[in-house]
Amino acid sequence: MRYQRIKGTRDVLPSEIERVNFVKEKARQIFSLYGYREIRTPILEPTELFVHSTGTTSDIVAKQMYTFTDLGKRSITLRPEGTPGVIRAVIENQLSLPQRLYYIEPMFRQERPQKGRYREFNQIGIEAVGIGSPLIDAEVINIGVELLRSVQIINFVVELNSIGCPICRPAFRSALLKFIKPKVVKFCPDCQMRADRNPLRIFDCKNEVCQQLLSDAPSPVDYLCSECRSHYANVKDYLKFYKIEFVENPRLARGIDYYTRTVFEIKDRHLGAQDTIIGGGRYDYLVKELGGPDAPAIGFALGLERLVQSMTQPEIKSGKMKTFFIIPLSASSLPLAINLQQTIVRKCSISLIG
Ligand code: HAM
Repeated sequence: MRYQRIKGTRDVLPSEIERVNFVKEKARQIFSLYGYREIRTPILEPTELFVHSTGTTSDIVAKQMYTFTDLGKRSITLRPEGTPGVIRAVIENQLSLPQRLYYIEPMFRQERPQKGRYREFNQIGIEAVGIGSPLIDAEVINIGVELLRSVQIINFVVELNSIGCPICRPAFRSALLKFIKPKVVKFCPDCQMRADRNPLRIFDCKNEVCQQLLSDAPSPVDYLCSECRSHYANVKDYLKFYKIEFVENPRLARGIDYYTRTVFEIKDRHLGAQDTIIGGGRYDYLVKELGGPDAPAIGFALGLERLVQSMTQPEIKSGKMKTFFIIPLSASSLPLAINLQQTIVRKCSISLIG
């Protein structure tokens, strides 16, 4: 009997693993330079955590989670994204704020598999918890950019938007609903449902008809309250200090319910349909929503598989590898050959440390 891997999962073969490790190493170096420390949280979390944070109107919760009932009749979900677990851990372990945290971990989403979209994939993410200043928004985006540059990815575009806060969103929501209502039947069935539950989600729809219908829809930036407007203006100024070029995309909504104010994506210009390598944003109410203190936060996650696909340099040289061949010419020289192998192995490891 021969078995095949489960649809949407991948074997990472030795030929690819050097790149993967190279990226992880660069990420760790850059994150620690900016004061981020690693956190690891369980793959299994209570389903309710994602329902409550990622949100019921997100595609992730609505149709992509691997959820099962365990023997204790609890509903358990395989982590589809890193942010909720990290925030749960910050609260549960009473970590003092602010915290700058990073993670490199597998995630699971039952999406239709295609190039750059898998059911098991890895995210490299950072979360700055307890910091509300727009300066950190620019710093977080800068860290993403620096990471891409460090692995020689240069052909990317940073897209930026602000989707406001609970104070300004109701005005935007009613303007959007007013715009959608007369033509709601022309939208795809998913968007018709979104119009009812969370009209902002319509911006995430990839359907061309829906996108066309939205071409002159109102944008969240036009409805920002004065605090959100000044926060957004500052983020843009600080990005200029970091010399980061960006494009404002008033349709960028990011498909997760917890976002407030700044949202951003970094896209590879050559990657095709699944072109977003990094996605992130501010989520100023999530910590409190999950039972913690009133603490603003922002972060991003990078799709490791997509990033590796974007890397163009032909090979990653570790510079530490040497190959020795020891050929025993007879059975009697085998002990000597093994002895020699062991001496070289020991010598090599000594020279690596020394
Ligand atoms: P996200 O946009 O859902 O955000 O995912 C972030 C990145 O993970 C995407 O841009 C993409 O590169 C990668 N990714 C997502 N789904 C897949 C998939 N099925 N296959 C391969 N790669 C994928 C989040 O997950 C948020 N937690 C990001 C964040 C952190 N926001 C604030 N802090």
